[in-house]
Amino acid sequence: MNATGDNPTGDRLSRWTPAMFACALVNLGLGLALAVLGLAWPAAPAAAPASLAMVHLLTIGWLTLLMFAALFQFVPVITSRALPSQTPPLVALIGIEAGLALMVAGFLSLGDGTALLLPAGGALVIAALALGAGTLLVPLLAKRPMPLSARFVVAGLGFLLLTVLLGLCFALALAVPALGPALAPLLAGGLAAHALAGIGGWFTLTAIGVSYELLPMFMLAPHDRGVLGATVLWTGTAGFLAAVFAGLAGAFWPAVMLAALATAGRLAICVALALYLFDVGRLYRSRMRRRIELHNRAAIGAFGSLGLAVLLGLGAILAQRLEALAPSLVLLLLLGWLSGLGLTQLYKIVAFLSWLSRYGTRLGRGAVPRVQDLVHEPAATWLFALYFGAVGLAALAAALTGAPGRAEAIRGALAVALVAVLLLGREYLRAWRASYVRPPYVGPAATPAAPLIPAGKDGTR
Ligand code: HEM
Repeated sequence: MNATGDNPTGDRLSRWTPAMFACALVNLGLGLALAVLGLAWPAAPAAAPASLAMVHLLTIGWLTLLMFAALFQFVPVITSRALPSQTPPLVALIGIEAGLALMVAGFLSLGDGTALLLPAGGALVIAALALGAGTLLVPLLAKRPMPLSARFVVAGLGFLLLTVLLGLCFALALAVPALGPALAPLLAGGLAAHALAGIGGWFTLTAIGVSYELLPMFMLAPHDRGVLGATVLWTGTAGFLAAVFAGLAGAFWPAVMLAALATAGRLAICVALALYLFDVGRLYRSRMRRRIELHNRAAIGAFGSLGLAVLLGLGAILAQRLEALAPSLVLLLLLGWLSGLGLTQLYKIVAFLSWLSRYGTRLGRGAVPRVQDLVHEPAATWLFALYFGAVGLAALAAALTGAPGRAEAIRGALAVALVAVLLLGREYLRAWRASYVRPPYVGPAATPAAPLIPAGKDGTR
């Protein structure tokens, strides 16, 4: 970094994005390890302190951090406007990690008198997210006309705000029992609303927005998604809003109206997601790049998981078995769709960022490798297959409610997913270090990649 905190590799590389990706992957590994070691769900109840710690390692530590890291890199691309400074992303990273550590400690110490850690950690996370979101919203809201992908991101950030404020209310109710009665009306149906606003409104809408940017960019397909893209945005946003509102308004509205609103909202969500998947199919078919690179071939596993989740969700709504099938749905959505899309796109993004920081400034001044030369697809192909296969098995086992050995089967499948994630992590590191690049591109032509942790003034890391 230079004296102003700006990025010496140019404003094309978000300075802290690689470090954020690394931290996010560590959180994913920790979250999965809690489940695999039998400390959290499925071996423990979903509401057990360690299960709540695991859920937030995955939702805040992995997916939220991953989204922010990607947005800090891509919002300047979407808006053609650099972020005002590289400092807020660093502060946001530190705040999210420190706040999450306090939250995890708070969950684990619930009931032993130190529970204030939970709301304190939550408040720190919220402050850090607000800073990050504000940094992104400045260029997003200034862009005219606002591109479709930016609209998804703005809607997603709105749902993030709702999610974390609800989370803080829960944390206060758990930590300060005296506040319980005052918060009770909000919290009655609030847990499902908190989860839906987070997994649906925040993660899914933002992932759709980012995918509408990344898929056309790397497959050379048309960016303009026309009426279909706009319909996905409005139907999805309205559906999530209706379903979340129906979960929260129990104290004010008659139950029968809320049930109808919740069902209408859930059906709208299913329609929006089905239209999105149809549009993704259209996008793949209309690509100019004939050969589909591994990250987009593997992403079909993520889209398949989303498709399965839509079918399962529809079936569960019609059969009124949403509660029983919720664990399976959450596995398909959190690990199959969102984490799957994240892991597959990271495979390209890490190579792309490494290429940008090593060779980006040397274009036109001698031979440089292609971004694809930084990865070795055969090594990673079977890892993605292993990951999606394992998540599919875990979701299947979770759907078999009451079956003997169900928890062990889910843990076994998640152990395989964890191994796949660790080995994929090694592939990302190899791409970052350009380990697969062969002569004539190695040597003096290349400048070293920006380190994950930038050097201090004295050169120490
Ligand atoms: C992206 C942000 C977030 C997402 C996606 C998210 C997601 C979830 C999910 C899915 C659950 C249900 C877990 C279960 O039933 O096992 C949950 C519960 C909970 N969340 Fe969050 N969360 C987020 C942020 C937060 C924040 C910032 C806080 C603030 C401290 C928080 C506090 C809580 C609490 C206290 C519970 C347990 C409520 C109870 O059981 O009474 N969450 N969250």
